[in-house]
Amino acid sequence: MPKALKPLATFADTMVAWQKVHGRNHLPWQNTRDPYRVWLSEIMLQQTQVSTVLTYYAKFLDNFPTVAHLAAAPQDKVMGLWSGLGYYSRARNLHQCAKDVVSRFGGEFPSTAEALISLPGIGRSTAAAVASFCFSERVAIMDGNVKRVLTRVWGYAEDLSVGKHEKALWQMAEAALPTRNLKAAMPRYSQAIMDLGATVCLPRKPNCAQCPVRLECKAHAQGEPEKFPVKTRKLKRTSEVLWLLLAQNPKGDTWLEKRPASGIWASLYSLPVFESEAALREALSPALQKTIALDASALKWELLPSFKHVLTHKDLHCHVVKLKVNRGAPVLTEGVWCSKANWTDLGLPQPVRHLLSSSL
Ligand code: ADE
Repeated sequence: MPKALKPLATFADTMVAWQKVHGRNHLPWQNTRDPYRVWLSEIMLQQTQVSTVLTYYAKFLDNFPTVAHLAAAPQDKVMGLWSGLGYYSRARNLHQCAKDVVSRFGGEFPSTAEALISLPGIGRSTAAAVASFCFSERVAIMDGNVKRVLTRVWGYAEDLSVGKHEKALWQMAEAALPTRNLKAAMPRYSQAIMDLGATVCLPRKPNCAQCPVRLECKAHAQGEPEKFPVKTRKLKRTSEVLWLLLAQNPKGDTWLEKRPASGIWASLYSLPVFESEAALREALSPALQKTIALDASALKWELLPSFKHVLTHKDLHCHVVKLKVNRGAPVLTEGVWCSKANWTDLGLPQPVRHLLSSSL
Protein backbone atom coordinates (compact mmCIF):
# COMPACT_ATOMS: atom_id res chain seq x y z
CA MET A 1 0.00 0.00 0.00
CA PRO A 2 1.35 3.48 -0.83
CA LYS A 3 2.64 5.18 2.33
CA ALA A 4 0.26 8.11 1.92
CA LEU A 5 -2.62 5.69 2.32
CA LYS A 6 -1.80 4.48 5.80
CA PRO A 7 -4.95 4.51 7.87
CA LEU A 8 -5.63 7.38 10.18
CA ALA A 9 -5.43 6.08 13.71
CA THR A 10 -8.78 7.50 14.70
CA PHE A 11 -10.81 6.88 11.54
CA ALA A 12 -12.64 3.70 12.53
CA ASP A 13 -13.40 4.88 16.08
CA THR A 14 -14.73 8.20 14.81
CA MET A 15 -16.94 6.48 12.25
CA VAL A 16 -18.33 4.04 14.82
CA ALA A 17 -19.14 6.84 17.28
CA TRP A 18 -20.77 8.90 14.53
CA GLN A 19 -22.95 6.01 13.34
CA LYS A 20 -24.44 5.48 16.79
CA VAL A 21 -25.81 9.00 16.84
CA HIS A 22 -26.20 10.07 13.21
CA GLY A 23 -26.41 6.87 11.19
CA ARG A 24 -29.44 4.94 10.00
CA ASN A 25 -30.41 2.53 12.75
CA HIS A 26 -34.00 1.56 12.07
CA LEU A 27 -33.98 -0.05 8.66
CA PRO A 28 -35.78 -3.42 8.71
CA TRP A 29 -32.61 -5.39 7.92
CA GLN A 30 -30.76 -3.86 10.84
CA ASN A 31 -30.78 -4.96 14.46
CA THR A 32 -30.62 -8.56 13.34
CA ARG A 33 -27.74 -10.94 12.86
CA ASP A 34 -29.80 -13.34 10.76
CA PRO A 35 -27.69 -13.83 7.62
CA TYR A 36 -30.74 -14.68 5.51
CA ARG A 37 -32.30 -11.28 6.24
CA VAL A 38 -29.05 -9.39 5.82
CA TRP A 39 -28.12 -11.20 2.60
CA LEU A 40 -31.59 -10.58 1.11
CA SER A 41 -31.33 -6.86 1.88
CA GLU A 42 -27.79 -6.60 0.49
CA ILE A 43 -28.79 -8.22 -2.82
CA MET A 44 -31.83 -5.95 -3.15
CA LEU A 45 -29.80 -2.85 -2.22
CA GLN A 46 -27.06 -3.53 -4.78
CA GLN A 47 -28.61 -1.39 -7.52
CA THR A 48 -31.72 -0.07 -5.85
CA GLN A 49 -32.53 2.72 -3.42
CA VAL A 50 -33.51 2.02 0.16
CA SER A 51 -36.99 3.56 -0.32
CA THR A 52 -37.79 1.14 -3.18
CA VAL A 53 -36.32 -1.89 -1.43
CA LEU A 54 -38.49 -1.48 1.69
CA THR A 55 -41.72 -2.83 0.14
CA TYR A 56 -40.02 -5.63 -1.81
CA TYR A 57 -38.09 -6.71 1.26
CA ALA A 58 -41.25 -7.02 3.34
CA LYS A 59 -43.02 -8.89 0.53
CA PHE A 60 -40.17 -11.40 0.18
CA LEU A 61 -40.01 -12.09 3.90
CA ASP A 62 -43.79 -12.57 4.02
CA ASN A 63 -43.63 -15.11 1.23
CA PHE A 64 -40.31 -16.71 2.15
CA PRO A 65 -39.66 -16.41 5.90
CA THR A 66 -36.52 -18.57 5.69
CA VAL A 67 -33.90 -19.47 3.12
CA ALA A 68 -35.49 -22.95 2.90
CA HIS A 69 -38.82 -21.42 1.87
CA LEU A 70 -37.08 -19.39 -0.81
CA ALA A 71 -35.13 -22.42 -2.04
CA ALA A 72 -38.33 -24.46 -2.34
CA ALA A 73 -40.29 -21.80 -4.26
CA PRO A 74 -40.99 -22.09 -7.98
CA GLN A 75 -38.81 -19.79 -10.07
CA ASP A 76 -41.85 -18.00 -11.52
CA LYS A 77 -42.97 -17.00 -8.06
CA VAL A 78 -39.56 -15.55 -7.19
CA MET A 79 -39.35 -13.67 -10.49
CA GLY A 80 -42.91 -12.41 -10.02
CA LEU A 81 -42.18 -10.97 -6.59
CA TRP A 82 -38.97 -9.39 -7.91
CA SER A 83 -40.77 -7.85 -10.88
CA GLY A 84 -40.15 -4.09 -10.95
CA LEU A 85 -36.83 -4.16 -9.07
CA GLY A 86 -34.86 -4.66 -12.31
CA TYR A 87 -31.47 -6.33 -12.84
CA TYR A 88 -33.19 -9.70 -12.93
CA SER A 89 -29.98 -11.71 -12.80
CA ARG A 90 -30.03 -10.76 -9.12
CA ALA A 91 -33.31 -12.64 -8.69
CA ARG A 92 -32.10 -15.72 -10.56
CA ASN A 93 -28.88 -15.79 -8.53
CA LEU A 94 -30.81 -15.14 -5.32
CA HIS A 95 -32.93 -18.21 -5.94
CA GLN A 96 -29.93 -20.36 -6.91
CA CYS A 97 -28.04 -19.13 -3.85
CA ALA A 98 -30.90 -20.15 -1.56
CA LYS A 99 -30.92 -23.61 -3.14
CA ASP A 100 -27.14 -23.90 -2.68
CA VAL A 101 -27.36 -22.81 0.97
CA VAL A 102 -29.79 -25.67 1.49
CA SER A 103 -27.94 -28.28 -0.57
CA ARG A 104 -24.34 -27.38 0.33
CA PHE A 105 -24.68 -25.91 3.82
CA GLY A 106 -27.74 -27.67 5.27
CA GLY A 107 -29.86 -24.52 5.19
CA GLU A 108 -27.47 -22.35 7.26
CA PHE A 109 -25.50 -19.55 5.62
CA PRO A 110 -21.76 -20.04 6.14
CA SER A 111 -20.20 -17.60 8.59
CA THR A 112 -17.07 -16.41 6.77
CA ALA A 113 -16.67 -14.07 3.82
CA GLU A 114 -14.44 -16.67 2.18
CA ALA A 115 -17.20 -19.31 2.17
CA LEU A 116 -19.99 -16.83 1.38
CA ILE A 117 -18.21 -15.68 -1.77
CA SER A 118 -18.48 -19.20 -3.19
CA LEU A 119 -22.27 -18.77 -3.46
CA PRO A 120 -24.01 -17.47 -6.61
CA GLY A 121 -24.56 -13.71 -6.73
CA ILE A 122 -22.35 -13.02 -3.70
CA GLY A 123 -19.30 -10.96 -4.62
CA ARG A 124 -16.48 -9.80 -2.39
CA SER A 125 -18.31 -6.79 -0.99
CA THR A 126 -21.63 -8.56 -0.37
CA ALA A 127 -19.77 -11.42 1.34
CA ALA A 128 -18.04 -8.85 3.54
CA ALA A 129 -21.30 -7.08 4.34
CA VAL A 130 -22.97 -10.30 5.50
CA ALA A 131 -19.86 -11.52 7.38
CA SER A 132 -19.30 -8.20 9.15
CA PHE A 133 -22.96 -7.50 9.98
CA CYS A 134 -23.82 -11.02 11.15
CA PHE A 135 -20.54 -12.52 12.35
CA SER A 136 -18.42 -9.42 13.09
CA GLU A 137 -15.69 -10.63 10.75
CA ARG A 138 -13.00 -8.02 10.14
CA VAL A 139 -13.52 -7.65 6.37
CA ALA A 140 -14.00 -4.59 4.16
CA ILE A 141 -17.02 -3.72 2.06
CA MET A 142 -16.58 -1.68 -1.10
CA ASP A 143 -19.59 -0.25 -2.89
CA GLY A 144 -19.88 3.10 -4.66
CA ASN A 145 -20.50 4.94 -1.40
CA VAL A 146 -17.48 3.43 0.29
CA LYS A 147 -15.24 4.23 -2.68
CA ARG A 148 -16.29 7.86 -2.48
CA VAL A 149 -15.66 8.17 1.25
CA LEU A 150 -12.25 6.47 1.16
CA THR A 151 -10.87 8.22 -1.93
CA ARG A 152 -11.88 11.57 -0.47
CA VAL A 153 -10.59 11.10 3.06
CA TRP A 154 -7.27 9.73 1.77
CA GLY A 155 -7.16 12.08 -1.24
CA TYR A 156 -6.66 9.05 -3.47
CA ALA A 157 -6.70 10.50 -6.99
CA GLU A 158 -5.66 7.43 -8.98
CA ASP A 159 -7.97 6.16 -11.68
CA LEU A 160 -10.13 3.39 -10.23
CA SER A 161 -10.82 1.98 -13.70
CA VAL A 162 -7.26 0.66 -13.51
CA GLY A 163 -7.15 -2.69 -11.74
CA LYS A 164 -4.09 -2.04 -9.58
CA HIS A 165 -5.55 1.23 -8.24
CA GLU A 166 -8.82 -0.42 -7.36
CA LYS A 167 -6.79 -3.14 -5.64
CA ALA A 168 -4.87 -0.53 -3.64
CA LEU A 169 -8.19 0.92 -2.51
CA TRP A 170 -9.27 -2.49 -1.18
CA GLN A 171 -6.02 -2.62 0.79
CA MET A 172 -6.71 0.83 2.23
CA ALA A 173 -10.23 -0.23 3.09
CA GLU A 174 -8.85 -3.25 4.96
CA ALA A 175 -6.21 -1.23 6.79
CA ALA A 176 -8.85 1.28 7.92
CA LEU A 177 -11.07 -1.35 9.63
CA PRO A 178 -11.57 -1.29 13.42
CA THR A 179 -8.89 -3.08 15.39
CA ARG A 180 -10.56 -3.54 18.76
CA ASN A 181 -13.88 -4.54 20.23
CA LEU A 182 -14.69 -6.16 16.89
CA LYS A 183 -17.89 -7.88 17.99
CA ALA A 184 -19.70 -4.59 18.32
CA ALA A 185 -17.48 -2.41 16.18
CA MET A 186 -17.50 -4.34 12.89
CA PRO A 187 -21.25 -4.24 12.15
CA ARG A 188 -21.37 -0.63 13.29
CA TYR A 189 -18.37 0.36 11.16
CA SER A 190 -19.71 -1.27 7.96
CA GLN A 191 -22.99 0.54 8.45
CA ALA A 192 -21.16 3.79 9.26
CA ILE A 193 -19.19 3.93 6.06
CA MET A 194 -22.29 3.14 3.98
CA ASP A 195 -24.33 5.73 5.86
CA LEU A 196 -21.72 8.47 5.57
CA GLY A 197 -21.55 7.88 1.81
CA ALA A 198 -25.33 7.81 1.43
CA THR A 199 -26.24 10.77 3.61
CA VAL A 200 -23.25 13.14 3.98
CA CYS A 201 -20.42 12.40 1.56
CA LEU A 202 -22.69 12.79 -1.47
CA PRO A 203 -21.40 12.61 -5.05
CA ARG A 204 -22.08 16.17 -6.19
CA LYS A 205 -22.91 18.14 -3.07
CA PRO A 206 -20.99 16.70 -0.14
CA ASN A 207 -22.17 18.10 3.14
CA CYS A 208 -18.71 18.49 4.68
CA ALA A 209 -19.98 20.61 7.59
CA GLN A 210 -21.78 17.51 8.93
CA CYS A 211 -18.89 15.13 8.39
CA PRO A 212 -17.17 13.55 11.41
CA VAL A 213 -13.87 13.06 9.54
CA ARG A 214 -13.67 16.39 7.72
CA LEU A 215 -10.61 17.52 9.69
CA GLU A 216 -8.64 14.51 8.44
CA CYS A 217 -10.13 14.56 4.95
CA LYS A 218 -7.58 15.38 2.23
CA ALA A 219 -10.21 16.12 -0.40
CA HIS A 220 -11.90 18.58 1.95
CA ALA A 221 -8.57 20.27 2.65
CA GLN A 222 -7.91 20.56 -1.08
CA GLY A 223 -11.30 22.22 -1.49
CA GLU A 224 -12.83 20.06 -4.24
CA PRO A 225 -14.11 16.84 -2.67
CA GLU A 226 -16.55 16.22 -5.53
CA LYS A 227 -13.57 15.50 -7.82
CA PHE A 228 -13.17 12.12 -6.11
CA PRO A 229 -13.31 9.28 -6.96
CA VAL A 230 -11.51 9.48 -10.29
CA LYS A 231 -12.80 6.98 -12.81
CA THR A 232 -12.06 7.59 -16.49
CA ARG A 233 -13.31 4.52 -18.26
CA LYS A 234 -16.90 4.98 -19.21
CA LEU A 235 -19.31 2.12 -19.58
CA LYS A 236 -19.41 0.98 -23.21
CA ARG A 237 -23.02 1.36 -24.28
CA THR A 238 -24.63 -0.55 -27.11
CA SER A 239 -28.08 -0.42 -28.58
CA GLU A 240 -30.51 -2.92 -29.97
CA VAL A 241 -33.76 -2.78 -31.91
CA LEU A 242 -36.59 -4.96 -30.65
CA TRP A 243 -39.96 -5.67 -32.15
CA LEU A 244 -42.55 -6.66 -29.57
CA LEU A 245 -45.75 -8.45 -30.46
CA LEU A 246 -48.75 -7.39 -28.41
CA ALA A 247 -51.40 -9.91 -29.50
CA GLN A 248 -54.79 -9.83 -27.85
CA ASN A 249 -57.83 -12.04 -28.32
CA PRO A 250 -61.50 -11.09 -27.99
CA LYS A 251 -61.44 -11.93 -24.27
CA GLY A 252 -58.69 -9.33 -23.74
CA ASP A 253 -56.03 -11.98 -22.98
CA THR A 254 -52.45 -11.27 -24.07
CA TRP A 255 -50.01 -13.72 -25.67
CA LEU A 256 -46.88 -14.04 -23.49
CA GLU A 257 -43.82 -16.22 -23.72
CA LYS A 258 -41.17 -17.13 -21.20
CA ARG A 259 -37.77 -15.72 -22.16
CA PRO A 260 -34.79 -18.07 -22.39
CA ALA A 261 -32.51 -18.44 -19.36
CA SER A 262 -29.90 -16.07 -20.80
CA GLY A 263 -29.90 -12.77 -22.68
CA ILE A 264 -32.22 -9.81 -22.34
CA TRP A 265 -34.95 -10.27 -19.71
CA ALA A 266 -33.78 -13.83 -19.06
CA SER A 267 -36.37 -16.15 -17.43
CA LEU A 268 -39.05 -13.44 -17.35
CA TYR A 269 -42.39 -13.62 -19.10
CA SER A 270 -42.57 -11.11 -21.92
CA LEU A 271 -44.34 -10.12 -25.06
CA PRO A 272 -42.65 -12.11 -27.85
CA VAL A 273 -39.49 -10.34 -29.02
CA PHE A 274 -38.17 -10.20 -32.61
CA GLU A 275 -35.34 -8.43 -34.35
CA SER A 276 -37.47 -7.05 -37.17
CA GLU A 277 -41.06 -6.60 -38.24
CA ALA A 278 -40.54 -9.21 -40.95
CA ALA A 279 -39.26 -11.76 -38.41
CA LEU A 280 -42.28 -11.06 -36.25
CA ARG A 281 -44.64 -11.61 -39.18
CA GLU A 282 -42.92 -14.84 -40.20
CA ALA A 283 -43.17 -16.28 -36.69
CA LEU A 284 -46.96 -16.04 -36.57
CA SER A 285 -48.85 -19.33 -36.56
CA PRO A 286 -49.72 -20.87 -39.93
CA ALA A 287 -53.40 -20.09 -39.31
CA LEU A 288 -52.67 -16.39 -38.80
CA GLN A 289 -50.30 -16.33 -41.78
CA LYS A 290 -53.10 -17.77 -43.89
CA THR A 291 -55.58 -15.19 -42.65
CA ILE A 292 -53.13 -12.43 -43.58
CA ALA A 293 -52.52 -13.98 -47.01
CA LEU A 294 -56.24 -14.23 -47.73
CA ASP A 295 -57.25 -10.85 -46.41
CA ALA A 296 -54.71 -8.55 -44.79
CA SER A 297 -57.46 -6.40 -43.30
CA ALA A 298 -58.95 -9.36 -41.40
CA LEU A 299 -56.39 -8.84 -38.66
CA LYS A 300 -55.97 -5.55 -36.91
CA TRP A 301 -52.26 -4.84 -37.25
CA GLU A 302 -51.44 -1.59 -35.52
CA LEU A 303 -48.06 0.01 -34.84
CA LEU A 304 -48.03 1.57 -31.37
CA PRO A 305 -45.69 4.49 -30.64
CA SER A 306 -42.04 3.36 -30.44
CA PHE A 307 -40.03 4.05 -27.30
CA LYS A 308 -36.52 3.73 -25.91
CA HIS A 309 -35.88 1.68 -22.80
CA VAL A 310 -32.52 2.29 -21.14
CA LEU A 311 -30.66 -0.61 -19.48
CA THR A 312 -27.28 -0.27 -17.75
CA HIS A 313 -25.25 -1.28 -20.80
CA LYS A 314 -27.77 -0.96 -23.55
CA ASP A 315 -30.45 1.22 -25.11
CA LEU A 316 -33.38 -0.81 -26.35
CA HIS A 317 -35.28 0.81 -29.22
CA CYS A 318 -38.65 -0.86 -28.98
CA HIS A 319 -41.30 -1.05 -31.68
CA VAL A 320 -44.65 -2.56 -30.85
CA VAL A 321 -47.06 -4.34 -33.16
CA LYS A 322 -50.51 -4.65 -31.68
CA LEU A 323 -52.50 -7.47 -33.20
CA LYS A 324 -56.15 -8.09 -32.50
CA VAL A 325 -56.92 -11.69 -33.32
CA ASN A 326 -60.47 -12.88 -33.56
CA ARG A 327 -60.04 -16.29 -31.93
CA GLY A 328 -58.25 -17.77 -28.97
CA ALA A 329 -56.01 -20.03 -31.09
CA PRO A 330 -52.21 -19.95 -30.53
CA VAL A 331 -50.42 -16.99 -32.06
CA LEU A 332 -46.90 -18.49 -32.10
CA THR A 333 -45.48 -21.93 -31.40
CA GLU A 334 -44.15 -20.79 -28.01
CA GLY A 335 -46.23 -19.03 -25.38
CA VAL A 336 -49.63 -18.90 -23.73
CA TRP A 337 -52.68 -16.69 -23.50
CA CYS A 338 -52.65 -14.80 -20.24
CA SER A 339 -55.47 -12.90 -18.62
CA LYS A 340 -54.74 -9.72 -16.71
CA ALA A 341 -55.30 -11.58 -13.45
CA ASN A 342 -52.55 -14.03 -14.52
CA TRP A 343 -49.91 -11.63 -15.75
CA THR A 344 -50.15 -9.23 -12.83
CA ASP A 345 -48.27 -11.77 -10.67
CA LEU A 346 -45.68 -12.76 -13.25
CA GLY A 347 -42.15 -11.45 -13.50
CA LEU A 348 -42.44 -9.07 -16.46
CA PRO A 349 -39.86 -6.59 -17.74
CA GLN A 350 -40.85 -3.10 -16.68
CA PRO A 351 -41.59 -1.74 -20.20
CA VAL A 352 -43.72 -4.81 -20.98
CA ARG A 353 -45.69 -4.36 -17.78
CA HIS A 354 -46.16 -0.73 -18.68
CA LEU A 355 -47.39 -1.57 -22.19
CA LEU A 356 -49.83 -4.14 -20.88
CA SER A 357 -51.21 -1.78 -18.24
CA SER A 358 -51.73 1.02 -20.72
CA SER A 359 -53.16 -1.07 -23.55
CA LEU A 360 -56.00 -2.84 -21.75
N1 ADE B 1 -26.85 -0.42 0.96
C1 ADE B 1 -26.24 -1.60 1.03
N2 ADE B 1 -26.31 -2.11 2.27
C2 ADE B 1 -27.00 -1.23 3.01
C3 ADE B 1 -27.41 -1.18 4.35
N3 ADE B 1 -27.10 -2.16 5.20
N4 ADE B 1 -28.11 -0.11 4.77
C4 ADE B 1 -28.39 0.87 3.90
N5 ADE B 1 -28.04 0.90 2.63
C5 ADE B 1 -27.34 -0.15 2.18
